[in-house]
Amino acid sequence: MQRIYFDNSATTRPDPRVLEAMRPYLEQWYGNASSIHIFGRESFNALEEARNRTSKAIGAKTREVVFTSGGTESDNLAIQGAAFANLSKGNHIITSSIEHHAVLNTCHFLEGQGFRVTYLPVDPDGVVDPESLKTAITKGTILVSVMTANNEIGTIQDVRELGAIAHEGGALFHTDAVQSIGKVPIDVERDNIDLLAISAHKFHGPKGVGALYVRKGVNLRPLVYGGGQERGLRSSTENVPGIVGLGKAIEICMQEMDESVPRMTSIRDRVIQGTLSRVEGCYLNGHRQRRLCNNAHFRFDYVEGEALVLSLDLKGIASSTGSACSSRDSDTSHVLKALGIRNEHARGSLRISLSRMNTTEEAERYLEAITEVVAMLRSISPVAMLSKSPTGG
Ligand SMILES: Cc1ncc(COP(=O)(O)O)c(C=O)c1O
Repeated sequence: MQRIYFDNSATTRPDPRVLEAMRPYLEQWYGNASSIHIFGRESFNALEEARNRTSKAIGAKTREVVFTSGGTESDNLAIQGAAFANLSKGNHIITSSIEHHAVLNTCHFLEGQGFRVTYLPVDPDGVVDPESLKTAITKGTILVSVMTANNEIGTIQDVRELGAIAHEGGALFHTDAVQSIGKVPIDVERDNIDLLAISAHKFHGPKGVGALYVRKGVNLRPLVYGGGQERGLRSSTENVPGIVGLGKAIEICMQEMDESVPRMTSIRDRVIQGTLSRVEGCYLNGHRQRRLCNNAHFRFDYVEGEALVLSLDLKGIASSTGSACSSRDSDTSHVLKALGIRNEHARGSLRISLSRMNTTEEAERYLEAITEVVAMLRSISPVAMLSKSPTGG
């Protein structure tokens, strides 16, 4: 069976060109980038080349990029780092209610440390109203953190406007750009960003490597102490092959964005229109226009999201419900809750997330499969049957 991978917001297939670029640093130039012999110098040069490529992709200066182990660490370093380094200025942080857990749980941790956190609401499409940020900012606000695009519903925020408001209020502005790299053009200068989190495995790079943009002059307290690598912000021997992979992957993304974004958008629109028109009792979550070019997130009446994902998997299509839940009592996504979607409706969620490697033919195969799968699941759903019976309402 020819499998279709439609779970690219969870992770992506590494690009063969990325693997090729990494290979010499696994096989031949495996030196420690701090060593002064040729093995070390080759590694160091590769590290700096990757830093250069990464900074170019976001409009930063080379020295403003710090490599980390991924998006989670980058978010933690940005938020904890800025919070503890700016304690003398205040203890108030503002974020949104639909952030990734890498941001939300860091904020919860900081609340336990005596910080005050405001969680901005979103509208039913998942958009943060800049006016609500204006109202929430106080003299003691040290940091505002709002994601560029949401990982579940794909809604894109106006980071430029939010960043400008944060700066007017004297606060730093952090954005989690993990889902938007290669999909939404970003320029840290133009977009008023002081801290920006990146993760390589979301754009065809390797897992376990990320980066944090740290604007020159912004002070952070490190999370990890040790040998002082990455300007003392992230000690530990650098993951050179991974970092080379990140640099190559982000460079490819930028070179191909003009072609890949319109192509993904057209496949996404086919998925959205086809699903909504073929399946009754199906709704799109997230903003229709201000949405990632690779995201389609639906909810279906009378079916469980997990059942949809598993049934599609049997037909060779990998998808997701959109939220990875680990605890039993919080099985409704916090993002869907924040949109005002009721628990019973949120349970029937399905996220289709594309990459530049997907095709229109795959979208057509999905459309056939989803129609069959929803019909099959509803035919065995007692709730669906009752809703159709004359007395069931
Ligand atoms: C928006 C967002 N932020 C942060 C992360 C965490 O990134 P990583 O898996 O590299 O730690 C993810 C991954 O799902 C994400 O989607």
